[in-house]
Amino acid sequence: MIESEIERRWWKEAVVYQIYPRSFNDTDGDGVGDLPGIVEKVDYLDDLGIDVVWLNPVYESPNADNGYDVSDYRAIMDEFGGMADWEELSKALHERDMRLIMDLVVNHTSDEHEWFVRSREDDPEYGEFYWWREGVDSGGVEWTSEEGPDGEAPPNGWQSIFGGPAWAYDETREAWYLHLFDRKQPDLHWRNPAVREAIYEMMEWWLEKGVDGFRLDAIAHLGKAEGLPTDLDEPMNGTMKHAGNDPRVHEYLTEMNERVLSRELLTVGEVGTSTVPDEDAHAYLDPERDGLSMLVHFEHVNIDREDSIYEPGEWTLPELKSVLDRWDGLTEEEGWVAQYLSNHDQPRQVSRFGSETYRRESAKLLGTLLHTLRGTPFVYQGEELGMTNYPWTSLSEFEDVATRNPVERAIERGDVESFEEVREAVAAESRDNGRTPVQWTDGENAGFTDGEPWIGINPDKETVNAAAAREDPDSVWHYYRELISLRSDDEVGDLVVYGEYEQLTPEHESLWIYTRTFEGERLLVALNFSDGRTTIDLPTDAVDAGVTADLLLANYAIEGAVTAVGDLADLVLRPWEARVYHVDAE
Ligand code: GLC
Repeated sequence: MIESEIERRWWKEAVVYQIYPRSFNDTDGDGVGDLPGIVEKVDYLDDLGIDVVWLNPVYESPNADNGYDVSDYRAIMDEFGGMADWEELSKALHERDMRLIMDLVVNHTSDEHEWFVRSREDDPEYGEFYWWREGVDSGGVEWTSEEGPDGEAPPNGWQSIFGGPAWAYDETREAWYLHLFDRKQPDLHWRNPAVREAIYEMMEWWLEKGVDGFRLDAIAHLGKAEGLPTDLDEPMNGTMKHAGNDPRVHEYLTEMNERVLSRELLTVGEVGTSTVPDEDAHAYLDPERDGLSMLVHFEHVNIDREDSIYEPGEWTLPELKSVLDRWDGLTEEEGWVAQYLSNHDQPRQVSRFGSETYRRESAKLLGTLLHTLRGTPFVYQGEELGMTNYPWTSLSEFEDVATRNPVERAIERGDVESFEEVREAVAAESRDNGRTPVQWTDGENAGFTDGEPWIGINPDKETVNAAAAREDPDSVWHYYRELISLRSDDEVGDLVVYGEYEQLTPEHESLWIYTRTFEGERLLVALNFSDGRTTIDLPTDAVDAGVTADLLLANYAIEGAVTAVGDLADLVLRPWEARVYHVDAE
Protein backbone atom coordinates (compact mmCIF):
# COMPACT_ATOMS: atom_id res chain seq x y z
CA MET A 1 0.00 0.00 0.00
CA ILE A 2 1.41 3.38 -0.91
CA GLU A 3 0.33 6.82 0.21
CA SER A 4 -1.33 7.80 -3.07
CA GLU A 5 -3.64 4.78 -2.97
CA ILE A 6 -5.21 5.43 0.41
CA GLU A 7 -8.34 7.35 1.10
CA ARG A 8 -7.72 9.11 4.39
CA ARG A 9 -10.76 9.60 6.61
CA TRP A 10 -10.94 10.75 10.22
CA TRP A 11 -13.19 7.83 11.08
CA LYS A 12 -10.64 5.30 9.86
CA GLU A 13 -8.11 6.82 12.23
CA ALA A 14 -10.51 6.82 15.18
CA VAL A 15 -11.34 4.43 18.00
CA VAL A 16 -15.05 4.22 18.82
CA TYR A 17 -16.28 3.59 22.34
CA GLN A 18 -19.81 2.22 22.65
CA ILE A 19 -21.96 3.31 25.57
CA TYR A 20 -25.09 1.40 26.56
CA PRO A 21 -26.45 4.17 28.78
CA ARG A 22 -28.73 1.94 30.88
CA SER A 23 -25.72 0.13 32.24
CA PHE A 24 -23.02 2.77 32.21
CA ASN A 25 -23.36 5.00 35.26
CA ASP A 26 -26.37 6.02 37.36
CA THR A 27 -26.43 9.39 39.13
CA ASP A 28 -30.02 9.63 40.40
CA GLY A 29 -30.26 6.34 42.24
CA ASP A 30 -33.06 4.77 40.16
CA GLY A 31 -30.83 1.83 39.27
CA VAL A 32 -30.68 2.80 35.59
CA GLY A 33 -27.71 4.61 34.05
CA ASP A 34 -28.31 8.13 32.74
CA LEU A 35 -26.84 10.96 30.66
CA PRO A 36 -25.44 12.91 33.65
CA GLY A 37 -23.73 9.62 34.52
CA ILE A 38 -21.94 9.69 31.19
CA VAL A 39 -21.02 13.36 31.61
CA GLU A 40 -19.46 12.40 34.95
CA LYS A 41 -17.22 9.90 33.13
CA VAL A 42 -16.18 12.02 30.19
CA ASP A 43 -12.70 12.48 31.67
CA TYR A 44 -12.45 8.73 32.06
CA LEU A 45 -13.13 8.36 28.34
CA ASP A 46 -10.67 11.10 27.54
CA ASP A 47 -7.97 9.39 29.63
CA LEU A 48 -8.59 6.18 27.78
CA GLY A 49 -7.91 8.08 24.57
CA ILE A 50 -10.98 7.25 22.55
CA ASP A 51 -12.15 9.49 19.69
CA VAL A 52 -15.84 8.77 19.22
CA VAL A 53 -18.72 7.80 21.47
CA TRP A 54 -21.53 5.77 19.99
CA LEU A 55 -24.55 6.15 22.21
CA ASN A 56 -27.13 3.38 22.17
CA PRO A 57 -30.68 4.80 21.88
CA VAL A 58 -31.55 7.47 24.43
CA TYR A 59 -34.81 8.60 22.82
CA GLU A 60 -38.17 8.46 24.52
CA SER A 61 -39.22 4.84 24.64
CA PRO A 62 -41.49 2.50 26.60
CA ASN A 63 -38.45 0.19 26.75
CA ALA A 64 -39.89 -2.99 25.33
CA ASP A 65 -36.43 -3.47 23.79
CA ASN A 66 -34.35 -1.12 25.92
CA GLY A 67 -34.75 1.97 23.80
CA TYR A 68 -34.81 0.24 20.41
CA ASP A 69 -38.54 0.93 20.42
CA VAL A 70 -38.60 4.69 19.94
CA SER A 71 -41.78 6.60 20.75
CA ASP A 72 -40.30 10.06 20.07
CA TYR A 73 -37.08 10.61 18.10
CA ARG A 74 -36.76 14.17 19.27
CA ALA A 75 -37.05 13.63 23.02
CA ILE A 76 -34.87 11.92 25.64
CA MET A 77 -36.10 9.00 27.72
CA ASP A 78 -37.06 10.22 31.21
CA GLU A 79 -34.90 7.63 32.93
CA PHE A 80 -31.85 9.02 31.10
CA GLY A 81 -32.56 12.70 31.81
CA GLY A 82 -33.63 15.43 29.40
CA MET A 83 -32.45 17.23 26.27
CA ALA A 84 -30.40 19.64 28.37
CA ASP A 85 -28.43 16.65 29.70
CA TRP A 86 -27.87 15.41 26.17
CA GLU A 87 -26.63 18.85 25.15
CA GLU A 88 -24.28 18.93 28.08
CA LEU A 89 -22.87 15.55 27.12
CA SER A 90 -22.40 16.61 23.52
CA LYS A 91 -20.61 19.77 24.69
CA ALA A 92 -18.41 17.92 27.19
CA LEU A 93 -17.31 15.42 24.53
CA HIS A 94 -16.69 18.00 21.82
CA GLU A 95 -14.69 20.18 24.21
CA ARG A 96 -12.34 17.24 24.62
CA ASP A 97 -12.14 16.61 20.87
CA MET A 98 -14.33 13.56 21.05
CA ARG A 99 -17.23 13.08 18.66
CA LEU A 100 -20.65 11.68 19.21
CA ILE A 101 -22.74 9.39 17.05
CA MET A 102 -26.34 8.46 17.72
CA ASP A 103 -28.13 5.19 17.18
CA LEU A 104 -30.61 5.63 14.35
CA VAL A 105 -33.45 3.16 14.79
CA VAL A 106 -35.53 3.49 11.65
CA ASN A 107 -36.51 0.00 10.58
CA HIS A 108 -39.26 0.28 13.16
CA THR A 109 -40.67 2.57 15.83
CA SER A 110 -42.47 1.82 19.07
CA ASP A 111 -46.16 1.03 18.80
CA GLU A 112 -46.51 4.02 21.13
CA HIS A 113 -44.99 6.42 18.60
CA GLU A 114 -47.52 8.98 17.42
CA TRP A 115 -47.11 7.77 13.82
CA PHE A 116 -48.28 4.31 14.82
CA VAL A 117 -51.02 5.54 17.11
CA ARG A 118 -52.43 7.51 14.16
CA SER A 119 -51.71 4.74 11.69
CA ARG A 120 -53.78 2.24 13.61
CA GLU A 121 -56.65 4.73 13.41
CA ASP A 122 -56.12 4.80 9.66
CA ASP A 123 -55.43 8.51 9.77
CA PRO A 124 -55.07 9.73 6.14
CA GLU A 125 -51.57 11.05 6.74
CA TYR A 126 -50.15 8.08 8.65
CA GLY A 127 -52.33 5.17 7.50
CA GLU A 128 -49.56 3.78 5.25
CA PHE A 129 -46.61 4.41 7.57
CA TYR A 130 -46.51 0.72 8.58
CA TRP A 131 -47.10 -2.67 6.97
CA TRP A 132 -50.83 -3.30 7.41
CA ARG A 133 -52.32 -6.41 5.82
CA GLU A 134 -55.45 -8.52 6.00
CA GLY A 135 -55.12 -11.97 7.52
CA VAL A 136 -55.61 -15.17 5.52
CA ASP A 137 -57.83 -18.22 5.97
CA SER A 138 -56.04 -20.35 8.55
CA GLY A 139 -57.32 -23.52 6.85
CA GLY A 140 -55.26 -22.85 3.75
CA VAL A 141 -51.84 -22.13 5.26
CA GLU A 142 -49.25 -23.83 7.42
CA TRP A 143 -48.73 -21.06 9.93
CA THR A 144 -50.90 -19.92 12.78
CA SER A 145 -51.02 -17.33 15.50
CA GLU A 146 -52.51 -17.26 18.95
CA GLU A 147 -54.20 -13.96 18.19
CA GLY A 148 -56.54 -12.51 15.56
CA PRO A 149 -60.12 -13.41 14.62
CA ASP A 150 -61.18 -17.05 14.61
CA GLY A 151 -60.24 -18.86 11.44
CA GLU A 152 -57.69 -16.21 10.51
CA ALA A 153 -53.92 -16.62 10.23
CA PRO A 154 -51.33 -13.85 9.77
CA PRO A 155 -50.83 -12.46 6.23
CA ASN A 156 -47.68 -14.51 5.68
CA GLY A 157 -45.56 -17.06 7.51
CA TRP A 158 -42.66 -14.80 8.49
CA GLN A 159 -41.13 -15.24 11.91
CA SER A 160 -39.94 -12.51 14.23
CA ILE A 161 -36.21 -12.30 14.96
CA PHE A 162 -37.20 -12.40 18.63
CA GLY A 163 -39.34 -15.54 18.18
CA GLY A 164 -42.97 -16.22 17.19
CA PRO A 165 -44.96 -14.83 14.24
CA ALA A 166 -43.77 -11.53 12.71
CA TRP A 167 -47.35 -10.20 12.67
CA ALA A 168 -49.57 -8.86 15.44
CA TYR A 169 -53.29 -8.29 15.18
CA ASP A 170 -54.55 -4.81 15.94
CA GLU A 171 -58.09 -4.60 17.26
CA THR A 172 -58.50 -0.91 16.41
CA ARG A 173 -57.63 -1.16 12.73
CA GLU A 174 -58.82 -4.76 12.52
CA ALA A 175 -55.76 -5.70 10.55
CA TRP A 176 -52.31 -7.23 11.05
CA TYR A 177 -49.07 -5.25 11.20
CA LEU A 178 -45.57 -6.52 10.53
CA HIS A 179 -42.91 -6.53 13.25
CA LEU A 180 -39.59 -8.21 12.46
CA PHE A 181 -38.57 -7.65 16.07
CA ASP A 182 -40.87 -7.43 19.11
CA ARG A 183 -44.61 -6.81 18.66
CA LYS A 184 -44.04 -3.42 20.24
CA GLN A 185 -41.66 -2.60 17.34
CA PRO A 186 -43.83 -2.26 14.18
CA ASP A 187 -41.80 -2.04 10.95
CA LEU A 188 -41.93 1.26 9.09
CA HIS A 189 -43.16 1.12 5.51
CA TRP A 190 -40.06 2.38 3.70
CA ARG A 191 -41.73 2.20 0.31
CA ASN A 192 -43.88 5.12 1.36
CA PRO A 193 -41.99 8.33 0.39
CA ALA A 194 -43.66 10.16 3.30
CA VAL A 195 -41.97 7.77 5.75
CA ARG A 196 -38.60 8.43 4.18
CA GLU A 197 -39.13 12.20 4.26
CA ALA A 198 -40.06 12.06 7.92
CA ILE A 199 -36.88 10.10 8.71
CA TYR A 200 -34.59 12.42 6.72
CA GLU A 201 -36.09 15.42 8.48
CA MET A 202 -35.44 13.82 11.84
CA MET A 203 -31.83 13.02 10.84
CA GLU A 204 -31.29 16.63 9.73
CA TRP A 205 -32.64 17.76 13.08
CA TRP A 206 -30.00 15.73 14.93
CA LEU A 207 -27.24 16.85 12.57
CA GLU A 208 -28.17 20.43 13.33
CA LYS A 209 -27.83 19.61 16.99
CA GLY A 210 -24.22 18.70 16.25
CA VAL A 211 -24.04 14.91 16.04
CA ASP A 212 -21.12 13.55 14.04
CA GLY A 213 -22.88 10.59 12.52
CA PHE A 214 -25.14 7.65 13.09
CA ARG A 215 -25.04 3.96 13.78
CA LEU A 216 -27.85 2.67 11.58
CA ASP A 217 -29.72 -0.01 13.46
CA ALA A 218 -31.00 -3.17 11.72
CA ILE A 219 -30.46 -1.47 8.37
CA ALA A 220 -30.44 -4.70 6.33
CA HIS A 221 -34.17 -5.10 6.95
CA LEU A 222 -35.49 -1.83 5.49
CA GLY A 223 -36.35 -3.45 2.16
CA LYS A 224 -39.05 -6.12 1.92
CA ALA A 225 -39.53 -8.23 -1.22
CA GLU A 226 -42.56 -7.60 -3.44
CA GLY A 227 -45.56 -9.59 -2.25
CA LEU A 228 -43.89 -10.47 1.07
CA PRO A 229 -43.39 -14.11 -0.03
CA THR A 230 -43.33 -16.98 2.45
CA ASP A 231 -40.73 -19.70 1.90
CA LEU A 232 -41.51 -22.64 4.12
CA ASP A 233 -38.25 -24.38 3.19
CA GLU A 234 -36.12 -21.47 4.35
CA PRO A 235 -35.12 -20.64 7.94
CA MET A 236 -37.80 -18.47 9.60
CA ASN A 237 -40.07 -19.26 6.62
CA GLY A 238 -38.06 -16.95 4.39
CA THR A 239 -38.11 -13.84 6.58
CA MET A 240 -34.40 -13.17 6.24
CA LYS A 241 -34.33 -14.15 2.58
CA HIS A 242 -37.03 -11.63 1.72
CA ALA A 243 -36.49 -8.99 4.37
CA GLY A 244 -32.71 -9.09 4.73
CA ASN A 245 -30.53 -7.25 2.17
CA ASP A 246 -33.47 -6.98 -0.21
CA PRO A 247 -32.27 -4.82 -3.17
CA ARG A 248 -34.70 -2.05 -2.18
CA VAL A 249 -32.57 -1.29 0.87
CA HIS A 250 -29.91 0.10 -1.46
CA GLU A 251 -32.45 2.35 -3.20
CA TYR A 252 -33.49 3.80 0.13
CA LEU A 253 -29.95 4.23 1.41
CA THR A 254 -28.77 5.75 -1.87
CA GLU A 255 -31.53 8.29 -1.51
CA MET A 256 -30.61 8.90 2.15
CA ASN A 257 -27.00 9.34 1.09
CA GLU A 258 -27.95 11.97 -1.52
CA ARG A 259 -30.28 13.75 0.82
CA VAL A 260 -28.63 13.65 4.24
CA LEU A 261 -25.31 11.84 4.50
CA SER A 262 -21.79 13.01 3.72
CA ARG A 263 -18.32 11.47 3.83
CA GLU A 264 -17.48 13.70 6.77
CA LEU A 265 -20.00 11.91 8.92
CA LEU A 266 -19.37 8.55 10.48
CA THR A 267 -22.15 6.21 9.39
CA VAL A 268 -22.03 2.66 10.66
CA GLY A 269 -24.52 0.24 9.13
CA GLU A 270 -25.59 -2.72 11.23
CA VAL A 271 -26.12 -5.63 8.82
CA GLY A 272 -27.35 -8.46 10.99
CA THR A 273 -28.08 -11.12 8.38
CA SER A 274 -26.19 -14.39 8.87
CA THR A 275 -24.15 -13.65 5.73
CA VAL A 276 -23.74 -10.52 3.65
CA PRO A 277 -23.34 -11.24 -0.07
CA ASP A 278 -20.35 -9.49 -1.70
CA GLU A 279 -22.52 -7.32 -3.93
CA ASP A 280 -24.51 -6.04 -0.95
CA ALA A 281 -21.38 -5.26 1.03
CA HIS A 282 -20.09 -3.23 -1.92
CA ALA A 283 -23.41 -1.43 -2.40
CA TYR A 284 -23.62 -0.42 1.26
CA LEU A 285 -20.10 0.98 1.19
CA ASP A 286 -19.87 2.53 -2.28
CA PRO A 287 -19.70 6.34 -1.85
CA GLU A 288 -21.72 6.70 -5.08
CA ARG A 289 -24.44 4.44 -3.78
CA ASP A 290 -25.42 3.89 -0.12
CA GLY A 291 -22.25 5.65 1.01
CA LEU A 292 -21.97 4.22 4.52
CA SER A 293 -18.57 4.67 6.17
CA MET A 294 -18.39 1.14 7.50
CA LEU A 295 -20.40 -1.94 8.37
CA VAL A 296 -20.97 -3.90 11.51
CA HIS A 297 -21.53 -7.38 10.10
CA PHE A 298 -22.40 -10.43 12.20
CA GLU A 299 -20.57 -13.13 10.29
CA HIS A 300 -17.84 -13.68 12.88
CA VAL A 301 -20.16 -13.45 15.88
CA ASN A 302 -22.42 -16.02 14.26
CA ILE A 303 -19.78 -18.73 13.95
CA ASP A 304 -20.82 -20.36 17.22
CA ARG A 305 -24.56 -19.79 16.81
CA GLU A 306 -27.14 -22.44 16.10
CA ASP A 307 -30.80 -21.74 15.28
CA SER A 308 -31.78 -20.88 18.82
CA ILE A 309 -30.27 -19.34 21.91
CA TYR A 310 -30.64 -22.58 23.87
CA GLU A 311 -28.53 -24.69 21.51
CA PRO A 312 -24.87 -24.72 22.46
CA GLY A 313 -22.44 -23.73 19.71
CA GLU A 314 -18.72 -24.09 19.09
CA TRP A 315 -16.24 -22.01 17.16
CA THR A 316 -12.76 -22.62 15.82
CA LEU A 317 -9.94 -20.20 15.15
CA PRO A 318 -9.63 -21.07 11.44
CA GLU A 319 -13.32 -20.13 11.03
CA LEU A 320 -12.86 -16.83 12.83
CA LYS A 321 -9.85 -16.06 10.67
CA SER A 322 -11.60 -16.95 7.46
CA VAL A 323 -14.54 -14.64 8.16
CA LEU A 324 -12.40 -11.68 9.14
CA ASP A 325 -10.03 -12.33 6.23
CA ARG A 326 -12.97 -12.30 3.86
CA TRP A 327 -14.03 -8.88 5.16
CA ASP A 328 -10.55 -7.54 4.78
CA GLY A 329 -10.62 -8.68 1.17
CA LEU A 330 -14.06 -7.20 0.58
CA THR A 331 -12.94 -3.79 1.78
CA GLU A 332 -9.44 -3.86 0.30
CA GLU A 333 -10.19 -1.52 -2.60
CA GLU A 334 -13.07 0.40 -1.16
CA GLY A 335 -15.08 0.42 2.03
CA TRP A 336 -14.24 -0.18 5.64
CA VAL A 337 -15.28 -2.39 8.49
CA ALA A 338 -15.94 -1.98 12.21
CA GLN A 339 -13.76 -4.39 14.21
CA TYR A 340 -15.56 -5.73 17.25
CA LEU A 341 -16.10 -8.91 19.21
CA SER A 342 -18.64 -7.64 21.69
CA ASN A 343 -21.43 -5.12 22.06
CA HIS A 344 -24.81 -4.83 23.80
CA ASP A 345 -26.12 -7.75 21.69
CA GLN A 346 -23.26 -10.12 22.42
CA PRO A 347 -21.75 -11.92 25.40
CA ARG A 348 -18.51 -10.60 26.84
CA GLN A 349 -15.61 -11.33 24.49
CA VAL A 350 -13.23 -12.70 27.12
CA SER A 351 -15.71 -15.41 28.12
CA ARG A 352 -16.55 -16.24 24.53
CA PHE A 353 -13.42 -15.87 22.41
CA GLY A 354 -10.84 -15.74 25.17
CA SER A 355 -10.45 -17.58 28.45
CA GLU A 356 -11.75 -16.77 31.91
CA THR A 357 -8.79 -18.73 33.31
CA TYR A 358 -6.43 -16.36 31.52
CA ARG A 359 -8.77 -13.40 31.76
CA ARG A 360 -6.18 -10.67 31.75
CA GLU A 361 -3.99 -12.21 29.06
CA SER A 362 -6.84 -13.12 26.76
CA ALA A 363 -8.56 -9.74 27.17
CA LYS A 364 -5.33 -8.12 26.05
CA LEU A 365 -4.85 -10.55 23.18
CA LEU A 366 -8.36 -9.93 21.84
CA GLY A 367 -7.78 -6.18 22.13
CA THR A 368 -4.52 -6.56 20.23
CA LEU A 369 -6.39 -8.32 17.45
CA LEU A 370 -9.14 -5.71 17.19
CA HIS A 371 -6.70 -2.80 17.21
CA THR A 372 -4.24 -4.23 14.70
CA LEU A 373 -6.59 -5.62 12.08
CA ARG A 374 -7.53 -3.23 9.28
CA GLY A 375 -10.74 -1.41 10.22
CA THR A 376 -11.96 0.85 13.01
CA PRO A 377 -11.82 -0.71 16.49
CA PHE A 378 -15.00 -0.51 18.56
CA VAL A 379 -14.52 -0.81 22.32
CA TYR A 380 -17.67 -1.85 24.15
CA GLN A 381 -18.03 -0.43 27.68
CA GLY A 382 -16.27 -2.65 30.20
CA GLU A 383 -14.20 -4.40 27.52
CA GLU A 384 -11.28 -2.19 28.57
CA LEU A 385 -11.59 -3.75 32.03
CA GLY A 386 -11.76 -7.32 30.73
CA MET A 387 -15.33 -7.80 32.02
CA THR A 388 -16.71 -11.33 31.81
CA ASN A 389 -20.10 -13.06 31.45
CA TYR A 390 -22.47 -13.06 34.42
CA PRO A 391 -23.05 -16.33 36.34
CA TRP A 392 -26.80 -16.69 35.51
CA THR A 393 -28.71 -19.25 37.55
CA SER A 394 -32.39 -18.69 36.67
CA LEU A 395 -34.46 -17.43 33.74
CA SER A 396 -36.02 -14.70 35.86
CA GLU A 397 -32.63 -13.00 36.21
CA PHE A 398 -32.67 -12.13 32.50
CA GLU A 399 -34.27 -8.87 31.35
CA ASP A 400 -33.81 -9.28 27.60
CA VAL A 401 -36.82 -10.11 25.40
CA ALA A 402 -34.56 -11.91 22.94
CA THR A 403 -33.39 -14.22 25.73
CA ARG A 404 -36.65 -14.79 27.58
CA ASN A 405 -39.10 -15.07 24.66
CA PRO A 406 -37.49 -17.99 22.81
CA VAL A 407 -36.75 -19.95 25.99
CA GLU A 408 -40.25 -19.43 27.40
CA ARG A 409 -41.79 -20.45 24.07
CA ALA A 410 -39.60 -23.55 23.83
CA ILE A 411 -40.67 -24.57 27.34
CA GLU A 412 -44.35 -23.95 26.46
CA ARG A 413 -44.03 -26.03 23.28
CA GLY A 414 -42.37 -28.77 25.27
CA ASP A 415 -39.17 -28.65 23.16
CA VAL A 416 -37.28 -27.84 26.31
CA GLU A 417 -38.21 -29.23 29.69
CA SER A 418 -36.91 -26.56 31.99
CA PHE A 419 -34.51 -23.65 32.05
CA GLU A 420 -32.03 -25.85 33.91
CA GLU A 421 -31.79 -28.15 30.88
CA VAL A 422 -30.55 -25.28 28.67
CA ARG A 423 -29.00 -23.04 31.31
CA GLU A 424 -25.45 -23.42 30.13
CA ALA A 425 -26.12 -22.46 26.51
CA VAL A 426 -28.47 -19.59 27.39
CA ALA A 427 -26.07 -18.25 30.02
CA ALA A 428 -23.22 -18.31 27.51
CA GLU A 429 -25.17 -16.71 24.66
CA SER A 430 -27.52 -14.16 26.21
CA ARG A 431 -27.23 -10.50 25.21
CA ASP A 432 -27.67 -9.63 28.89
CA ASN A 433 -24.04 -10.61 29.50
CA GLY A 434 -23.08 -7.43 27.73
CA ARG A 435 -25.68 -5.43 29.64
CA THR A 436 -24.67 -5.95 33.26
CA PRO A 437 -23.42 -2.64 34.64
CA VAL A 438 -19.92 -1.32 34.20
CA GLN A 439 -17.87 -2.14 37.28
CA TRP A 440 -16.36 1.12 38.48
CA THR A 441 -15.28 0.01 41.98
CA ASP A 442 -15.31 -3.04 44.24
CA GLY A 443 -17.87 -1.26 46.46
CA GLU A 444 -21.60 -1.66 46.70
CA ASN A 445 -23.22 -2.18 43.28
CA ALA A 446 -19.77 -1.74 41.79
CA GLY A 447 -20.14 2.03 42.10
CA PHE A 448 -22.74 1.94 39.30
CA THR A 449 -25.73 3.08 41.38
CA ASP A 450 -26.82 3.99 44.89
CA GLY A 451 -30.15 2.30 44.24
CA GLU A 452 -31.24 -1.14 43.14
CA PRO A 453 -29.57 -1.95 39.78
CA TRP A 454 -32.02 -2.82 36.97
CA ILE A 455 -30.02 -5.99 36.22
CA GLY A 456 -27.51 -8.08 38.15
CA ILE A 457 -23.97 -6.94 38.81
CA ASN A 458 -21.23 -9.43 38.18
CA PRO A 459 -19.74 -10.63 41.50
CA ASP A 460 -16.28 -10.51 39.92
CA LYS A 461 -16.43 -6.73 40.51
CA GLU A 462 -14.31 -7.55 43.57
CA THR A 463 -11.31 -7.87 41.29
CA VAL A 464 -12.55 -6.62 37.92
CA ASN A 465 -13.25 -2.90 38.26
CA ALA A 466 -12.05 0.40 36.87
CA ALA A 467 -10.60 1.75 40.11
CA ALA A 468 -8.36 -1.28 40.60
CA ALA A 469 -7.44 -1.39 36.92
CA ARG A 470 -6.27 2.19 36.88
CA GLU A 471 -4.04 1.58 39.90
CA ASP A 472 -2.43 -1.46 38.35
CA PRO A 473 0.07 -0.72 35.56
CA ASP A 474 -0.28 -4.26 34.25
CA SER A 475 -4.07 -4.08 33.89
CA VAL A 476 -6.18 -4.59 30.80
CA TRP A 477 -7.13 -0.91 31.07
CA HIS A 478 -3.54 0.33 30.72
CA TYR A 479 -2.92 -2.06 27.87
CA TYR A 480 -6.03 -0.75 26.09
CA ARG A 481 -4.74 2.79 26.48
CA GLU A 482 -1.60 1.75 24.67
CA LEU A 483 -3.58 0.02 21.95
CA ILE A 484 -5.82 3.05 21.49
CA SER A 485 -2.85 5.38 21.22
CA LEU A 486 -1.34 3.36 18.35
CA ARG A 487 -3.55 4.96 15.71
CA SER A 488 -2.35 8.46 16.47
CA ASP A 489 1.29 7.46 16.96
CA ASP A 490 3.62 9.47 14.69
CA GLU A 491 5.73 6.47 13.87
CA VAL A 492 3.27 3.62 13.41
CA GLY A 493 -0.14 5.34 13.13
CA ASP A 494 -0.45 5.11 9.34
CA LEU A 495 0.79 1.55 9.36
CA VAL A 496 -1.81 0.54 11.94
CA VAL A 497 -4.66 2.34 10.21
CA TYR A 498 -3.90 1.92 6.52
CA GLY A 499 -1.44 -0.98 6.24
CA GLU A 500 -2.31 -3.83 3.94
CA TYR A 501 -3.21 -7.01 5.80
CA GLU A 502 -1.75 -10.43 5.09
CA GLN A 503 -2.77 -13.63 6.84
CA LEU A 504 0.14 -16.02 7.42
CA THR A 505 -1.50 -18.88 9.32
CA PRO A 506 -5.01 -19.45 7.93
CA GLU A 507 -5.35 -23.07 9.04
CA HIS A 508 -3.56 -23.10 12.38
CA GLU A 509 -5.88 -24.08 15.25
CA SER A 510 -4.39 -21.80 17.90
CA LEU A 511 -1.96 -19.46 16.24
CA TRP A 512 -2.83 -16.33 14.28
CA ILE A 513 0.08 -14.52 12.69
CA TYR A 514 -0.41 -11.67 10.25
CA THR A 515 1.35 -8.67 8.86
CA ARG A 516 0.28 -5.13 8.03
CA THR A 517 2.36 -3.33 5.42
CA PHE A 518 2.55 0.33 4.47
CA GLU A 519 5.26 2.19 2.57
CA GLY A 520 8.18 -0.11 3.29
CA GLU A 521 7.21 -0.71 6.89
CA ARG A 522 5.51 -3.64 8.44
CA LEU A 523 3.87 -4.87 11.61
CA LEU A 524 4.06 -8.51 12.48
CA VAL A 525 1.41 -9.69 14.92
CA ALA A 526 1.61 -13.10 16.63
CA LEU A 527 -1.29 -14.31 18.78
CA ASN A 528 -1.67 -17.56 20.68
CA PHE A 529 -5.37 -18.35 21.05
CA SER A 530 -5.05 -21.10 23.64
CA ASP A 531 -4.72 -21.98 27.31
CA GLY A 532 -1.60 -23.90 26.38
CA ARG A 533 1.78 -23.07 24.88
CA THR A 534 2.12 -22.87 21.12
CA THR A 535 5.30 -22.89 19.10
CA ILE A 536 5.49 -20.22 16.43
CA ASP A 537 5.29 -21.63 12.99
CA LEU A 538 6.28 -18.88 10.60
CA PRO A 539 6.06 -19.57 6.86
CA THR A 540 9.68 -19.14 5.75
CA ASP A 541 8.87 -17.26 2.58
CA ALA A 542 6.49 -14.78 4.24
CA VAL A 543 9.00 -12.52 5.90
CA ASP A 544 12.73 -12.17 5.51
CA ALA A 545 14.41 -13.76 8.53
CA GLY A 546 17.25 -11.23 8.55
CA VAL A 547 15.03 -8.21 9.01
CA THR A 548 15.28 -6.33 12.30
CA ALA A 549 12.29 -6.72 14.60
CA ASP A 550 11.44 -4.13 17.25
CA LEU A 551 8.92 -5.12 19.87
CA LEU A 552 6.06 -2.63 19.81
CA LEU A 553 3.66 -4.23 22.26
CA ALA A 554 3.23 -7.47 24.20
CA ASN A 555 0.93 -8.76 26.91
CA TYR A 556 3.66 -10.65 28.82
CA ALA A 557 7.05 -9.52 30.07
CA ILE A 558 9.50 -10.60 27.39
CA GLU A 559 12.82 -12.11 28.38
CA GLY A 560 15.46 -12.95 25.83
CA ALA A 561 15.65 -10.46 23.04
CA VAL A 562 14.19 -10.97 19.64
CA THR A 563 16.09 -8.66 17.35
CA ALA A 564 15.37 -10.16 13.98
CA VAL A 565 12.34 -11.84 12.44
CA GLY A 566 14.34 -15.05 12.24
CA ASP A 567 14.53 -15.18 16.06
CA LEU A 568 10.77 -15.65 16.13
CA ALA A 569 10.90 -19.02 14.43
CA ASP A 570 10.36 -21.80 16.96
CA LEU A 571 9.67 -19.33 19.75
CA VAL A 572 7.17 -20.69 22.27
CA LEU A 573 4.21 -18.42 23.00
CA ARG A 574 2.64 -18.65 26.46
CA PRO A 575 -1.13 -19.00 27.00
CA TRP A 576 -2.90 -16.15 25.19
CA GLU A 577 0.38 -14.41 24.51
CA ALA A 578 0.22 -11.54 22.03
CA ARG A 579 3.22 -9.80 20.48
CA VAL A 580 3.41 -7.01 17.95
CA TYR A 581 6.71 -6.32 16.19
CA HIS A 582 7.63 -3.42 13.97
CA VAL A 583 9.78 -4.67 11.10
CA ASP A 584 11.08 -3.42 7.76
CA ALA A 585 9.11 -4.62 4.79
CA GLU A 586 12.07 -4.84 2.41
C1 GLC B 1 -30.31 -4.19 16.65
C2 GLC B 1 -29.91 -3.73 18.04
C3 GLC B 1 -30.60 -4.60 19.02
C4 GLC B 1 -32.09 -4.41 18.85
C5 GLC B 1 -32.52 -4.67 17.41
C6 GLC B 1 -33.89 -4.15 17.16
O1 GLC B 1 -29.89 -5.47 16.35
O2 GLC B 1 -28.52 -3.75 18.16
O3 GLC B 1 -30.22 -4.35 20.35
O4 GLC B 1 -32.77 -5.31 19.68
O5 GLC B 1 -31.68 -4.04 16.48
O6 GLC B 1 -33.89 -2.74 17.10
